[in-house]
Amino acid sequence: MKTALIILAAGKGSRMLSDLPKVLHPIGGVPMLDHVLATSRVLEPEHIVVITGHEAEQVEKHLATLPYETTTVRQDEQLGTAHAVAQAKEALAGFDGLALVLFGDTPFISAQTLETMAEAAQSNDVVILGFEPEDPGRYGRLVMQDGSLQRIVEYKDASEDERAIGLCNGGLTAVSSPLLFSLIDQIGNDNASGEYYLTDIVAKARAQGHSATAVVCSEEETIGINTRAQLAQADGYFQTKMRQEAMAAGITLMAPETVYFAHDTVIGRDAVIEPNVVFGPGVSIESGARIRAFSHLEGCHVSRGATVGPYARLRPGAELSENVHIGNFVEVKNAQVSEGAKINHLSYIGDASVGAGTNIGAGTITCNYDGVMKHKTTIEEGVFIGSNTMLVAPVTVGAGALTATGSVITKDVPSDAIASSRVEQNNRLGKAQKFFNMLRAKKARLMKDK
Ligand code: UD1
Ligand code: CA
Repeated sequence: MKTALIILAAGKGSRMLSDLPKVLHPIGGVPMLDHVLATSRVLEPEHIVVITGHEAEQVEKHLATLPYETTTVRQDEQLGTAHAVAQAKEALAGFDGLALVLFGDTPFISAQTLETMAEAAQSNDVVILGFEPEDPGRYGRLVMQDGSLQRIVEYKDASEDERAIGLCNGGLTAVSSPLLFSLIDQIGNDNASGEYYLTDIVAKARAQGHSATAVVCSEEETIGINTRAQLAQADGYFQTKMRQEAMAAGITLMAPETVYFAHDTVIGRDAVIEPNVVFGPGVSIESGARIRAFSHLEGCHVSRGATVGPYARLRPGAELSENVHIGNFVEVKNAQVSEGAKINHLSYIGDASVGAGTNIGAGTITCNYDGVMKHKTTIEEGVFIGSNTMLVAPVTVGAGALTATGSVITKDVPSDAIASSRVEQNNRLGKAQKFFNMLRAKKARLMKDK
């Protein structure tokens, strides 16, 4: 069925106390809005309309960075969920498929649930997502009769009997687009909040002889975020899910509760993730790799058999081939490290390529930045970079070459050459203790003068 998504994201989120619009607060490293989009895109929508309002520009700017098209429509005043949906009318003019309304602050709806709703919409005019929370609190209540949905009553407007209903409104609504906008046109705001309620479309539809039903999902899927505490809780829920999925897929997490995942972390089976590892967005790790404790990875790829850490940092563009070793206190950024290369201690390798089997000694730095521009360092295969080498980019070290410990390499090094650029050593015999005695005498004089 042709589908359009209408995602409500105009609300202020006052309880977040934030300059960042609520829907842009991150879960697993990306805005909660992206979770809603990622899941709902399984329906292959023809249109994605996002209703923005509070800090609309920031939301629009973010949406423009996504690799697929969205339409944004502003709701300048937030007069209620029906009023929000009404803003999409023009954007969906002429569209006669199914319209699915979602909330930008309800990120955990499953694709399965959305598919069930779309299916239910083939034989029901209005489909509402219901759930049965442990504590129904202030959710809207679904009034059912003989298995069909009669109306939704908001908590504020509900009678005692209605408040006793356990089946609540999760907020998602699926209706054919023309019917949705025709029903919304008829909704008023004569209620306890003085708002235009999207939920009122159910009673309107029923009064006009249309059918309505509820699809029921688990409470976790409808978790909404209104406060920082709920944001942390939601992220915790997301992390738990990611950890369980990782372990179920054959990945060893030595201390699962200490591993932080991004929404898109991909790990192959038999990889081992030691305690306290953080994955930012864009990480893929192949089978059998090992990420040792306290490492931070983002935007990088780690191949089969490679080891990273402990205490390593892989930044965007770090590409490690098979059996590469990255050791403690090593930072790699925008660099391709070929098979079997080793960078084991205290180094910075940025804007570089490192050839197969090359060994980078402790304390090596690629000096990639001249204060204005970034430059590339090329280290070919089988090179031995002596400890504490400064590679001043742009520079190339040819295959099989060696740089002497402590060298500052400013010129290209030909293949198989030994490059050394340090001051020759000078041993002044019998001078060390004399030197210290001189210093001690100086200190004693200074103390006496005080
Ligand atoms: C809504 C439902 C309630 C349901 C609950 C589930 C209505 C009238 N009530 O209540 O039955 O149990 O969700 O969480 O729909 N928004 C806009 N523009 C507006 C108003 C809201 O974009 O003018 C957005 C909000 O940013 C939010 C979503 O719509 O993402 C829901 O609005 P909210 O005010 O949170 O509705 P609830 O009172 O929670
Ligand atoms: Ca809400």
